[in-house]
Amino acid sequence: MISERAYIWVFLPGHTAPVICGVVAWDGAEHVFRYGKSYLARSDAMPLSIPGRPLGDLSGNPCVLDGELSGALRDAAPDAWGRRLIQREIARKMDRSAQRIEGELGEIDYLLGAGPERIGALDTSETPDVYAPTYRSVSPLEDALMAAEKMERGEALDEALDAALNHGTSIGGARPKVLFSQKNARQEDEYWVAKFSTSRDTVNLVAAEGGAMRLAARVGLRVADVQVLQVSNKDVLLVRRFDREPHGSGEVTRRHMLSAMTLLGLDEYAVRAGDSSYLELADLLRKYARNFDQDGPELFMRMVFNILIGNTDDHARNHACFWDGDFLELTPAYDICPQPRLGYSADLAMVVGDNGRAARLSNALSQAQRFGLTHDVAAEQVDKMRRWVDADWKETFAAAGMKSGDIEYLAKATILSPSIFD
Ligand SMILES: Nc1ncnc2c1ncn2[C@@H]1O[C@H](COP(=O)(O)OP(=O)(O)O)[C@@H](O)[C@H]1O
Ligand SMILES: [Mg+2]
Repeated sequence: MISERAYIWVFLPGHTAPVICGVVAWDGAEHVFRYGKSYLARSDAMPLSIPGRPLGDLSGNPCVLDGELSGALRDAAPDAWGRRLIQREIARKMDRSAQRIEGELGEIDYLLGAGPERIGALDTSETPDVYAPTYRSVSPLEDALMAAEKMERGEALDEALDAALNHGTSIGGARPKVLFSQKNARQEDEYWVAKFSTSRDTVNLVAAEGGAMRLAARVGLRVADVQVLQVSNKDVLLVRRFDREPHGSGEVTRRHMLSAMTLLGLDEYAVRAGDSSYLELADLLRKYARNFDQDGPELFMRMVFNILIGNTDDHARNHACFWDGDFLELTPAYDICPQPRLGYSADLAMVVGDNGRAARLSNALSQAQRFGLTHDVAAEQVDKMRRWVDADWKETFAAAGMKSGDIEYLAKATILSPSIFD
């Protein structure tokens, strides 16, 4: 690793500037976090996680995190895509090859490398005294798209293209993407995630995600706004960020978010092994949600929607809640996309009901009460959503730019697969 410690800053709810809240360091065997004395002395200090999880209680005791830096801090660090970009950036600065640098970087380097545009309300610095973020200059989406394609093909990038990609370092997820902002009609900054397709996609996944997100909104779910754009003749999906809010005269507030992975106390391995559960997430909402009557049924219907459209990539980093130190609130839904398949049945990525992860409506209904719904009300809502999806999905996906061949492919076994009615 190159850096051994990172100072953690948080934008408290409603604030447009951050306060320092603690430090995380590698002690040779594990990562240890401590809240700072100045933070603990504040009357408005909030714990960065929920009670019972690391960082969930405001005390000066050291909090041991595992080698992967799981938890609230992991949510502020990038995933696969951002990590590749950080390796490139550091390699360039040190005039070394990205492959060699990869072996030398530790979690703290990635945490520091994500920069001030990162998702959520946390940020980092290498020294404790000043918050002096380096905002990267924004490049046109055309450049970012071209750079992402070249990088995927393993081709060299010139400096301008390299810079264009650096806006992707601060975000999680595996697909190529960048963050950018633009002024709206009221001259306020609006913040967006731009997601690109990759050469490995079997169908136009940008149109599939754009279509699925719009369909989700149409059938009544609370979803991030999306737009499908043409950039250099390629489809690009824009998703409006819900963790940034304009606050007048160019100021912005940030919202602290925790992924379901963090809320459930899991790490990346457990998530990949399918050890996460909608039911346990619903239990946490029942305990901590500001409004369980709203969020419980909303989570249930998001799960049902994923079954209906064959989104089996609904893992615990694709769900998140805002956390204000007292209450949880589901964020708008994001990263909803059918996962093209030809096999008959499928599993979701999280446990759905009595039959584990099986993507079947009967499985979802088996535990509806955990989400605050009676079986009868849930069955009625599921049936309504099913009919709505059936009536609207092809038109919505076509409007998002999906060609009829791709629509037919999804109709075979992915969207409204017969297996979900077993
Ligand atoms: N609209 C949004 N507002 C704020 N954060 C978002 C938004 N969309 C995604 N994110 C965050 O960015 C991460 C990566 O985005 P995601 O759409 O899941 O990409 P991928 O398809 O690569 O997994 C998510 O896990 C979430 O933390
Ligand atoms: Mg994702």
